[in-house]
Amino acid sequence: MANGHAQRKPDSCCFVLFGVTGDLTHRLVMPSLYNLAAANLLPERFCVVGVVRRGMSNETLRESLMEGVRKFATRAVDDAIANRLLECVTAIEADASEPGSFDRMKERLEKLEAARDTGGNRLFYLATPPNAFAPIARQLGRVGLVHQDENGPWRKLIVEKPFGTDLASAKALNDELLSILNEHQIYRIDHYLGKETVQNILVLRFANGMFEPIWNRHHIDHVQIAVDEKLGVGHRGSFYDQTGALRDMVPNHLFQLLSLIAMEPPAKFDAHTVRSEKAEVLAAIQVPNEDEALRNSVRGQYGQGRIGDEIVPAYDATEDVRPDSTTETYAALKLTIDNWRWAGVPFYLRTGKALGLKRTEVAIKFRQAPFAMFECTPVDGLAENYLVIGIEPTEGITLQFNSKVPGPTINISGVEMKFRYKDYFNAEPSTGYETLLYDCMISDNILFQRADGVEAGWRAVEPFLKAWKQAGGKGLEKYPAGSEGPSGAAELLRRDGRSWRKL
Ligand code: BG6
Repeated sequence: MANGHAQRKPDSCCFVLFGVTGDLTHRLVMPSLYNLAAANLLPERFCVVGVVRRGMSNETLRESLMEGVRKFATRAVDDAIANRLLECVTAIEADASEPGSFDRMKERLEKLEAARDTGGNRLFYLATPPNAFAPIARQLGRVGLVHQDENGPWRKLIVEKPFGTDLASAKALNDELLSILNEHQIYRIDHYLGKETVQNILVLRFANGMFEPIWNRHHIDHVQIAVDEKLGVGHRGSFYDQTGALRDMVPNHLFQLLSLIAMEPPAKFDAHTVRSEKAEVLAAIQVPNEDEALRNSVRGQYGQGRIGDEIVPAYDATEDVRPDSTTETYAALKLTIDNWRWAGVPFYLRTGKALGLKRTEVAIKFRQAPFAMFECTPVDGLAENYLVIGIEPTEGITLQFNSKVPGPTINISGVEMKFRYKDYFNAEPSTGYETLLYDCMISDNILFQRADGVEAGWRAVEPFLKAWKQAGGKGLEKYPAGSEGPSGAAELLRRDGRSWRKL
């Protein structure tokens, strides 16, 4: 997210992709590289190395990548641009379980870099299952491929999610990576930070003078962060059953939203300052004891149901899911942040799969007018004052407030002021990864997670993970696919005299 500069071309470099035959590369990484190529934002001299386990010709690899580009690039595909990009692709064999293959890869890579004149700048993208992150990084370190001298070419590592499965494993992974690379060389991706509306939270808060004075416990009643998904678990059963909704979504995506909403204003717009403020607010999330964790959380698992025309099988009848699974597909939490700005302001978070609607939004609920001046409408009859940041399906910002209904008497009705991205800006649709890849190539890591931020996120969810593990199936609510989720989620707010914002 370069700060105000005209977009420049990144330095020449070699982009080395582990997991090149996987789904992520197919659906997101290559289509995003294509989108960058079409926007003329790839380096002048560039090469892509697809790391394959077993021999694969360049032609076969290029053909399969081209399929992904055709299907998933969000810009119209121009064959000339796509072919020029695919000509940059070379398949090189390496397998972390066979260390010698990394020595051979190094030799081939250096020759390729010399031939393509990329200046030695290298970016290694780990689009692999998480158990491969550390072994690959170790081999890259051993053969010296990620070694960076002070004034020499840059060497970077992009690590996908999930970054650990709890605090201890995230710490262990951080320690391992930091024994091989410096923090500034590590780019931990969270694709929520690639979303325009998510980036816009910073601009909304800190480029406008009118929100900051009311952005605190004196004016805000509570905050809701909702990430509802229509999709069920599909073919990801084996991953998901060991993961669950909380690990899959909360310490990463939902906490990115929470930290942008709740952080203190950074003194500077640079990676160090912004990421420090984000980590700080995550570290201020109150850590509940086991009873509090159970009282302040709800978990559910979807049963069979209908979403649109489709009958969705129950989660526990899904391929690769244990039939007696107690993994949650829905999680709702009430969190509090222990600092002056937010003391006493609950943050309600929820996320779930196989729900009736797809919706991602942050809703900031302001305190009600303090007394009933208008006789026709009691205070509790007034519409609620919400500022809503819509992330999906509608990208925009909505302010909900009260207005007088035209006529001779004072009658009041809730109305909405709506800003929609598409009404103002004519942006090319994107996958959300373009900014992240581009930023990494220009060495801007504002939109990537730092080690302390990741660990603070895990620390905050760990009490819930532990309490749920302890409780086993007790307290896991079933909800039908296609519904609004478990009734306990509504209860979590109702007992505080609040409710989730309706669509
Ligand atoms: C991924 C999760 O990180 O985010 C998926 O692993 C989830 O389970 C996805 O569906 C949600 O992303 P988005 O951008 O569709 O909200």
